[in-house]
Amino acid sequence: MSSPMSVVTSARHGVVAVISINSPPVNALSHAVRAGIAEQLAKIKAEGGAKAIVLICEGRTFVAGADITEFGKPPQTPGLGEVIAALETSPIPTIAAIHGTALGGGLELALGCHYRVASPDAKWGLPEVKLGLLPGAGGTQRLPRAIGPEAALRVIVTGAHQPAKLGHELGLIAEIIPGDLKVGAIAFAEKVAASGKKHPSLREDTSKLTATRADRSKFDALVTELLSKSRGLEAPVACAEAVKLSIDTPLDEALKQERAYFLKLVAGEQSKAQRHLFFAEREAARVPGVGPDVKPRKIERVAVLGAGTMGGGITMSFASAGIPVTIIEQSEENLQRGMGIIRKNYEATARRQGQDPASVDKVMALITPKVGLEHVKDADMIVEAVFEEMALKKTVFAALDKFAKPGAVIASNTSYLNIDEMAAATKRPGDVLGMHFFSPANVMKLLEIVRATNTAPDALATAMAVGRRINKVPVVVGLCHGFVGNRMLSQRSKQSELLLLEGAMPHEVDAVVTGFGFPMGPFAMGDLAGLDVGFRSRKDRGVRAEIADSICEAGRFGQKTNKGYYRYEEGRRTPIRDPEVEAIIVAASKKLGYTRRTITEQEILGRMLYPMINEGARILEEGVAARASDIDIVWINGYGFPMGRGGPMHYADTVGLAKIRDDLSQFAKLTNDKTLEPAPLLVKLAAEGKGFASYKPGKA
Ligand code: 3HC
Ligand code: NAI
Repeated sequence: MSSPMSVVTSARHGVVAVISINSPPVNALSHAVRAGIAEQLAKIKAEGGAKAIVLICEGRTFVAGADITEFGKPPQTPGLGEVIAALETSPIPTIAAIHGTALGGGLELALGCHYRVASPDAKWGLPEVKLGLLPGAGGTQRLPRAIGPEAALRVIVTGAHQPAKLGHELGLIAEIIPGDLKVGAIAFAEKVAASGKKHPSLREDTSKLTATRADRSKFDALVTELLSKSRGLEAPVACAEAVKLSIDTPLDEALKQERAYFLKLVAGEQSKAQRHLFFAEREAARVPGVGPDVKPRKIERVAVLGAGTMGGGITMSFASAGIPVTIIEQSEENLQRGMGIIRKNYEATARRQGQDPASVDKVMALITPKVGLEHVKDADMIVEAVFEEMALKKTVFAALDKFAKPGAVIASNTSYLNIDEMAAATKRPGDVLGMHFFSPANVMKLLEIVRATNTAPDALATAMAVGRRINKVPVVVGLCHGFVGNRMLSQRSKQSELLLLEGAMPHEVDAVVTGFGFPMGPFAMGDLAGLDVGFRSRKDRGVRAEIADSICEAGRFGQKTNKGYYRYEEGRRTPIRDPEVEAIIVAASKKLGYTRRTITEQEILGRMLYPMINEGARILEEGVAARASDIDIVWINGYGFPMGRGGPMHYADTVGLAKIRDDLSQFAKLTNDKTLEPAPLLVKLAAEGKGFASYKPGKA
């Protein structure tokens, strides 16, 4: 372990002492960093002669926060609060010089300084809420004093990164320094030291609180607005409570309360789950067999095949990231319809976000509409999103082989089909993989990248890099029917139908699922997505789902027909229970010989989640996912799994695998369905008293 001295150093530049933090990768406030800052402050004081202190960081960023890996371990002094107090009460002015990102504890450190200066492209924020926390070192008290309670509330409850320019406008950042930050910060320090003025300390300055003290109505309305999106998470509520204290509770008392909230949240299940997700997302970037030596190919132009539901959204994802796209259809009519929808979507977003309408023309100019597959010829990456039919996909891939430039990555957006078969239609299977976007593709974060048998490592690396460039969360998965997400989802869909046959009603199942934290239950979701797609697919496969099919046969295709599992009033999206559906369900139970029974909420929840988790265990065992946390990332970003639960596999570990194993065995008996028997990996881990997190197969 490095000594504190080696990660924090100081040097004199005339009358200015410069403290430098150098603790890669992100200068997080580990014990070594905290102790190092305290030590350098003491040293500067003991040496005397300095008239100002600049706090600056080496490497890619200013301090990006507390060291998350230290949470849950015994605290070591000095705490961050002590270091901040030393900066705040320093008799000579302290100046934080920010580049990269000043986040969480990093911004709190800067708020302890008398002044903050920043590079023009620096960002700042208090993202603790995303880790299920609140700023625990004074951020909820000092930021309101720096920029006013309303602005601070928005920053803290959303956790969003903010630009330096906004910080300057709000009074957080005293000066923006173009050019060399260290030189500029030293010049700033000399200036304030020479000014003879009293240096502003947020401990004493309450001027920005006055307006809210006089009238809290705007603040209260903003709390209501921001918390309406918090979906059962404790952290946003604690953030708002703490910021509320900043308005008129004495600082030291409020800081104590903030600390108490922090300690409670950090020990809670939600924050543990959200911290798990933070590391899981970074872990997902490490793809077995694709080391740092594998360089992604250069992607300057993309082609998307199909201007339907998915092709349109995928095109928007690329264009919004500034990547030129050729969108290709089989007819002029389909092409124009697709382009029309893309334009309408951009216009609606521009209106909602108050953007200049010219921004729509700018992004539309990146999209070139064409008819005919030969137009893929300039593309470095091609994403196929034509109808879900293997014969068609094979014909398309054979044509792509003819027209695509050498080295172009060729991806299919198929939901279920075998990518190997498509690759075999080309003479370049190493360039072929799956890029499975989720609907609406311009909004949903998840991107399943499907590694086919012959996919080349650099083609995978390219898809990962492009995924991040277009602001998605990419996860590599292996080949199987439905990949990771849809394969697990089909277990839930099967149980949803069974629960209705056995005795439950749609609103009961949906209430349990939303009570768990999903934004929607399976039936309301089905109504939103449209029930006709599954109906047609079952007909094609010669499969019958008695209730789902009877509902469609009654002309109920979901919200688009104002009736599905629920009924909808014209123009409204609120599901209303419908006796007609309940009669269909009871009749279906009778027809298939079920004796309807009361199903407890506990059983509904178990049957909604455990069969999915069981499938996750099989997926892991087969190596279709490289690690359990990748499955969590899929469900959080593609299917609305509640963040505070950490994803299905993390949740399973918190419940305990022995309980899940026993419940699954019971469900298997109850429904006479052998596929519900616990998977071998689940049985093994449960017997060893372990969780999925401990399982490291590493394939995918
Ligand atoms: N603690 C420990 N490790 C951290 C960390 C932190 N706060 N922030 C980042 N890291 C690690 C990452 O895990 C990653 O490690 P790896 O290379 O082994 O996977 C490495 O640093 C680089 O991180 P990224 O891959 O995320 O790098 P990017 O350049 O893409 O992003 C970043 C940089 C924007 C700083 C991003 O890492 C980030 O958002 N970090 C977290 C910021 C945060 O949440 N801060 C608040 C912490 S809680 C806190 O401060 C509590 C306080 O109020 C008391
Ligand atoms: P869609 O029916 O809305 O669009 C398909 C489009 O492809 C049509 O506009 C059609 O004219 C066009 N097309 C057909 N043959 C073509 C050809 N030879 N050349 C150019 N264009 C051609 O279908 P959707 O929903 O967009 O699905 C596309 C693919 O994405 C399918 O493989 C589907 O499984 C997959 N997918 C669909 C999701 C969804 O929610 N709809 C989610 C994720 C994947």
